[in-house]
Amino acid sequence: MTKTYRIAAIPGDGIGVEVIGAGLAVLEVLTGNSGGFRLEVTRFDWGSERYRRIGSLMPADGAAQLLAFDAILFGAVGAPDLPDHLTLWGLRLAICQPLDQYANVRPTRILPGIRSPLARVGPGDLDWVIVRENSEGEYAGHGGRSHRGKPQEVATEVAIFTRAGVTRIMRFAFELARSRPRKRLTVVTKSNAQRHGLLLWDEIAAEVAQGFPDVSWDKMLVDAMTVRMTLHPQSLDTIVATNLHADILSDLAAALAGSIGIAPTANLNPDGSTPSMFEPIHGSAHDIAGKGIANPVATFWTAAMMLEHLGEPAAAARLMRAIERVTADPTLHTPDLGGAASTRRVKEAVIAALTLAD
Ligand code: NAI
Ligand code: MG
Repeated sequence: MTKTYRIAAIPGDGIGVEVIGAGLAVLEVLTGNSGGFRLEVTRFDWGSERYRRIGSLMPADGAAQLLAFDAILFGAVGAPDLPDHLTLWGLRLAICQPLDQYANVRPTRILPGIRSPLARVGPGDLDWVIVRENSEGEYAGHGGRSHRGKPQEVATEVAIFTRAGVTRIMRFAFELARSRPRKRLTVVTKSNAQRHGLLLWDEIAAEVAQGFPDVSWDKMLVDAMTVRMTLHPQSLDTIVATNLHADILSDLAAALAGSIGIAPTANLNPDGSTPSMFEPIHGSAHDIAGKGIANPVATFWTAAMMLEHLGEPAAAARLMRAIERVTADPTLHTPDLGGAASTRRVKEAVIAALTLAD
């Protein structure tokens, strides 16, 4: 019997709708001619449009509805007329947090045909996976405001680091580093200035490292890390950082690999008790929404990560090969990569590459 995976697709806002449309079309062709398994896709119209209509981005039981699925494919959320904190907390974080998708995995490498803005850095020189702690840290939602509008107004933004939360992300990162050929992990920290939470972070890194004698690891302060990423990208492999630090470093990583339009991510619940969520790292890109020029490569790579996670590595590898065949041709680059191709043209080229014999 053909295996069927249930996929929840949440295109969201702006270019999220465009790139998820392209991603689903590619997945349909891929699964149509690969045999072996099927994807049963359910689309959800959650996002800013729903908020304007009925006052919420998703239903109150939205996260519970997603439990029925094997994976979630997410576009982006955010609209120019709505506050970003409202849309982010109302949809993306309203999914990640209840489903406990605590490991945010962000691979970055320079795909064939794509030029890094760094001189002398080519494919092979930059091949990283950033692991972002995705459930606590600076984005735990702790804090508040009082005395609004008064001179004594105060706002606190409290970063939360728990032994349980830090230990599980460190274990995950060491395991991921171990699975990669170079077996190398860099733990990003800022324990010189943030001397409570990040000191716990450092101590737990050292404890967990004892169980991984085959992984070589080092520590970097986050500010110095931006310098190392830029000047010595070859020296890095797997990287683990807090929610805020990794958020920033992974945008830098995407830019160094050519464009934020190619960068994928997975929000994983590694124990599999709830579905994981896969999304391009970019946002809804108001500036180019509706123009048909969004780069769909991030979403295609994201779809490959989803297939890998579902246990279909052969299909994932086939999709990656098709993506790389397309990026290798500069006439198929979208404007963010310096080209003139449309989203649709790139989608059609990936579909054509999929139908070629491997
Ligand atoms: P953004 O990632 O949407 O855009 C940053 C820049 O990169 C823009 O110039 C955009 O045109 C370009 N860009 C992004 N993706 C691209 C693609 N696939 N192809 C070509 N160019 C691309 O970040 P920004 O501008 O800070 O935020 C826009 C909205 O997205 C805001 O409402 C923000 O809150 C939201 N956002 C949502 C995220 C999510 O849903 N996960 C993540 C980041 C931002
Ligand atoms: Mg970000």
